[in-house]
Amino acid sequence: MDRYAVIGNPIAHSKSPQIHTAFARQTGQALQYEALLAPLDGFTRTVEDFRAAGGRGANVTVPFKLEAFALSTRRTPRARAAGAVNTLAFDGDEVLGDNTDGAGLVRDLLINLGHTVAGRRVLLLGAGGATRGAILPLLHAGPAELRIANRSADKAEALAADFAAEAGKARLEGGSFAALADRKFDLVINATSASLAGERLPLPRGLYAEGALAYDMMYGRSHTPFMCAALADGAARVADGLGMLVEQAAESFALWRGVRPDTAPVRAALRRQIDAG
Ligand code: ATR
Repeated sequence: MDRYAVIGNPIAHSKSPQIHTAFARQTGQALQYEALLAPLDGFTRTVEDFRAAGGRGANVTVPFKLEAFALSTRRTPRARAAGAVNTLAFDGDEVLGDNTDGAGLVRDLLINLGHTVAGRRVLLLGAGGATRGAILPLLHAGPAELRIANRSADKAEALAADFAAEAGKARLEGGSFAALADRKFDLVINATSASLAGERLPLPRGLYAEGALAYDMMYGRSHTPFMCAALADGAARVADGLGMLVEQAAESFALWRGVRPDTAPVRAALRRQIDAG
C-alpha cells in the first residue's frame, strides 16, 4: 500500500490521519496515512527515513514548513509565494513542495461558505506564515481591496510590498490595527496566533460592512475569541478554520492521487467529534 504521513512536532493531536483515511475510503484509494513525530532538530532525517521506507508523500506542519520548503527540489508557484511548504510529493529523486493552505482557505470561503470575494473588501489580520500563504490565493479570487493589518505594522507593509506585482486590479496595502479605524470590510480573516495565547486583538470597532463574514483560521468547540468579538462588532456571519483544515487536506490528496474527495461528510464528522468533546 502507498504510504503517506503528516510530520510535525507536536503531532499527536493532528487530525490529518483521520481526514486522509476518510478520503481514501471514500475514493477507493489504497493508501496508508500515519502521524510522524520528528525531533525538532531532525526533520530532514525523518523525511529521508520515510522516503527510504517507501513513503510517497507527506504533509508538513508546525514547526517544519520552512524546512520543508528548503528541502524541496521543485516548488509550485503557490509554495514559492507562501515561502513555505505543507505538502511534499516524492517521485524518484525529486521532492515536489506544494502549499495547499491558502487554496484550502479560499475553497472554504467560496464553495463551502458561499461568500463572495470578487470585487469585495478583504482584511487579513496578521503578517506571519499563515498570512503569507493566504495572500496569493486570495488575490486570485479578485477582491477589490486586500488590506493586511498587523500588531507590528512594518511586517504588514513589507508583505503588501512583496506581493505588489501580483495585486492586479486589487488595492493591496499593509498597516497597523489602529489605521483600520473608520474602514469597513466584507470579509475579515484572522491569521494571527493571538487566540492561542488567549489574547484579544486590539481592533477598532465598526470594521464589518453589511453582510460581512468574520473567518478565524483557528477552530474549536465553541466560537473563538475572535469570532465572539466579531459578532459583538456587527459581523453578520462567523466561521472557524475547520473547513480550511479539511480543504487543504483535500488539495494535498488531489495532488498525490489525482482524485478530489468530497469534503462535506468529512467536515461534518469532524465537527460532530469536536462538539462531542
Ligand atoms: P503563523 O505561521 O501561524 O502565521 P507566526 O509567523 O509566528 O505564525 O505569526 C504570528 C502572527 O500572529 C504575527 O502576525 C503576530 O504579530 P507580530 O508580527 O506583531 O508578532 C500575530 N500575533 C501573535 N500574537 C498576537 C497578539 N497577542 N496580538 C496581536 N497579534 C499577535
